[in-house]
Amino acid sequence: MIHVRDLHLSIGDRPLLKGIDLQVERGSVWGIIGPPGGGKSLLVKTLCGLFTPDRGSIRIDGVEVCGLDEPALVPIRRKIGMLFQNNALFDFMKVWENVAFPLARLKPDLDEAALRERALMRLREVGLAGSEDKWPSELSGGMKKRVGIARATMTESPLVIYDEPTAGLDPVTTSKIYDLLEKIRQSTGATVLAISSDIQGLSTFVKNMMLVHDGQILFKGPLPALQECEDPLVHQFIRGLSEGPL
Ligand SMILES: Nc1ncnc2c1ncn2[C@@H]1O[C@H](COP(=O)(O)OP(=O)(O)O)[C@@H](O)[C@H]1O
Ligand SMILES: [Mg+2]
Repeated sequence: MIHVRDLHLSIGDRPLLKGIDLQVERGSVWGIIGPPGGGKSLLVKTLCGLFTPDRGSIRIDGVEVCGLDEPALVPIRRKIGMLFQNNALFDFMKVWENVAFPLARLKPDLDEAALRERALMRLREVGLAGSEDKWPSELSGGMKKRVGIARATMTESPLVIYDEPTAGLDPVTTSKIYDLLEKIRQSTGATVLAISSDIQGLSTFVKNMMLVHDGQILFKGPLPALQECEDPLVHQFIRGLSEGPL
C-alpha cells in the first residue's frame, strides 16, 4: 500500500525528514511513535502530498506521489482518510456536515438528505447519535476526536491515517477510541497508520510499530521485536527512562 524510498524533506534550510525507507503491506496496521518534534506528523502529511520532498520516492497503492501537481494528487488523496493531530474540524460546519464532507466530494450526485443520512449512520457508530446538529465548538475533546474519526473513515478509504487519535483523552475514553478504531478496521479492512505517544494503548491496536526520531526511522517491525531493539534511544523511549540519549 505504501512504498517510500530515500525520502528527504527540508522546510526552509532545515532538513526535517532525512532518508526515510518504508514499506507498508496492504491491510497491515502500524503504530508510529517517537519523541515530540521527531517528524511523525510531517511524515504522514508528506505521504498525502501535503509537502513536496527534496528527493526520494513515495508510492501509494502503486502510484508515485512525488512530483504530482494538485489535480493529479486528488485521486491519491481520495484513497486516504486522515484524522489530523488537531482534528482540523471545520468550525463553520455542523457536526454532520463535517462528517459528510469527504463523501460529498467523492460522490457529488448525493443530495443533502442522503449525505445527512450516511453521516448520521457513521455518527451512531462512533457513539455520537444526537450530536449531528451541534457545532464543533460545543463538543468535548473526546467528542471532537470521534467526529474526526467519523470523517476520516466516512468514505471507507483503503488507507486511514490517525494522527494522535487519543491525545489529551482520559484512560477510559482512550480505550473506547481504540475499540472503535479496531471495529472500523475490521469492517473496512483498511491499511492503518496510527501516531500516538501512548505506547501501551497503541499496542492494543497495532501489530507493527515504527519509531521516528530526528527525521529518521530508528526502528520498524513487528510489535514484539520493539522490546528487543537494542538502539539506546529506542530502549530509553519505550521504557520511559530518564537516563539515556534523550
Ligand atoms: N509546516 C512546518 N513548517 C516548518 N517546520 C515544521 C512544519 N511542520 C513541522 N515542522 C517542524 O518539523 C519537525 C517535526 O515536526 P512534527 O512532524 O510535527 O513532529 P511530531 O513527531 O511531534 O509529529 C519539528 O521540528 C517542527 O518544528
Ligand atoms: Mg505530531
